[in-house]
Amino acid sequence: MSSSPVFRKPGIAKRHSLTHRCSRPIPQEAAVVATETRLDAALREAGELGIMPAAVTEIDRVAKDPRSSLKNLETAVALDPMLAARILKFANTAHYGRRRTITDLRQAVLTLGMRTVRDVAIGMAVAARANEVMDAKAEQFIQHSVYTAVIGTVMEVSGSQAANDAFVSGLLHNMGGLIMVNLDSDKYARLEAHHPKGNTARCMMEQVAYGFNHADLAAECLDRWGLPGRVVHAIRHHHDPTPRDKATALLALGDQAAQQFLEGDRIGEIIRVAIDSDANRVLGIGKEKLNARFRQVPSLFRAFMPFD
Ligand SMILES: [Fe+2]
Ligand SMILES: [Fe+2]
Repeated sequence: MSSSPVFRKPGIAKRHSLTHRCSRPIPQEAAVVATETRLDAALREAGELGIMPAAVTEIDRVAKDPRSSLKNLETAVALDPMLAARILKFANTAHYGRRRTITDLRQAVLTLGMRTVRDVAIGMAVAARANEVMDAKAEQFIQHSVYTAVIGTVMEVSGSQAANDAFVSGLLHNMGGLIMVNLDSDKYARLEAHHPKGNTARCMMEQVAYGFNHADLAAECLDRWGLPGRVVHAIRHHHDPTPRDKATALLALGDQAAQQFLEGDRIGEIIRVAIDSDANRVLGIGKEKLNARFRQVPSLFRAFMPFD
């Protein structure tokens, strides 16, 4: 069990205090407090998965320090050569279509900026943890995360903050499942064995078994780590039946399409499902653009795999 300061969240104390304003809290507030208490407990018990991965703590420290320079960040990233190689790869993915290839880490850090380097490093470090936490399903988990990340980023304007955030959201969106496996792999295996098909059903089963679902758990953890609000919000709502904002809709669309890519569906079928989806009611992406962007996905996916 960890007593890391990352678990102290001022917002929680504030919301808890709402219940003390009147002697009989209304049921809705009580439910929120109960869920937060369960999330707190789960994250305290999550062990290393509830704490920012060691590989990125120095990057996080440098990125948050207003006195840091890009050179300091480059040095912190270079401490982990595998991570440095992935950041370089991401810088080239993010600027897909540019004539010049980004060939060194300094250029990559300069192009992406401090916040994106930090967020992408966290996403990559967490996704890589699946290899340690999960057994047979690690590869599938990582592939799904990378597909979702790549699909999200290619749908946005190349190199934009929205494209970078979509990549991070894709890598991290199912992190809650990873934490649940780490908490009790037998319990999660039983849940997986019995859950009916479909994300809504899965979320409901998790809700019953844990008091929250994997999306809530990931969002709570990432909020404490200081990931951008847009990323946290998209992850929290990625299985909502009707996404309302663009970042959430893009993650939901990427999540669905990633599953289809993994199952070997043809691009035409992936487009057919995407175009009529609730997510695309928010995004409004046309058939031609979907076709062009989905065709970029396999090569970008291969650029990030194997992922260990
Ligand atoms: Fe999910
Ligand atoms: Fe997913």
